[in-house]
Amino acid sequence: MSFLGKCKVSVLTGGSPLWRVYLLARGVQVGSHFTCIGRPGLNLKRGSRMVLGERVTLCSSGMANPVAEGGRCRLATLAAGAELILHDEVGISSALICCARRVEVGRGTLIGGGVMILDTDFHPRDGAGNWLTDPARVARPVRIGEKCFIGARAIILKGVTIGDGAVVGAGAVVTRDVRAGTVVAGNPATEITPHGRAVPDCGEWTAAGD
Ligand SMILES: CC(C)(COP(=O)(O)OP(=O)(O)OC[C@H]1O[C@@H](n2cnc3c(N)ncnc32)[C@H](O)[C@@H]1OP(=O)(O)O)[C@@H](O)C(=O)NCCC(=O)NCCS
Repeated sequence: MSFLGKCKVSVLTGGSPLWRVYLLARGVQVGSHFTCIGRPGLNLKRGSRMVLGERVTLCSSGMANPVAEGGRCRLATLAAGAELILHDEVGISSALICCARRVEVGRGTLIGGGVMILDTDFHPRDGAGNWLTDPARVARPVRIGEKCFIGARAIILKGVTIGDGAVVGAGAVVTRDVRAGTVVAGNPATEITPHGRAVPDCGEWTAAGD
């Protein structure tokens, strides 16, 4: 990244303490050393819980990461009792998490631009075939393990568990559990590496994206 780019990013990260206060005021539990680049979107339903661990980074800026055109990170709880938990050192760029029951992202996991994580189908159907709006009724928890890498524009659907260290390829639609340490891709996502093959070295991730 150029010197100018680095300056711009550091100016943006300088706003993080204010974002921290903003999040705390909204009822979000925020750990220390929280970094917020650009402006995230938050929807917190009354009676739900949102927890951001220590050294979590939310990047909503095309300057820091041009993938997904720097769209906002949006974290949303959709029902009372929902729990959205990002453990320590999770990094998210311009991604959406919708949580009607429980979404948990493990320590050190990186989530790329335009990713969607949905623990619900949003609309249940009644006996007459009408679509209703009660996301909690069609929700199943999503759990993403530690040190996973979720490629740009992947979609992770309800009920999925992704094992520690797994890699999800760009654009994958994940409908079934992913084994730890494997690489999956495609729609529906399937393993593209034999079990035990080394996953790509993603290198040291930084808030500046370089
Ligand atoms: C999943 C990924 C990490 C695999 O990288 P890799 O181990 O170098 O894999 P290869 O390029 O050798 O591809 C292996 C096979 O999987 C296929 N493949 C790789 N990525 C794929 C994807 N995202 N979707 C569908 N198929 C994919 C390749 O076509 C290849 O198939 P083949 O063996 O039939 O030729 C990489 O392709 C990827 O999707 N990276 C995500 C980048 C990204 O989004 N970064 C975040 C930005 S914020």
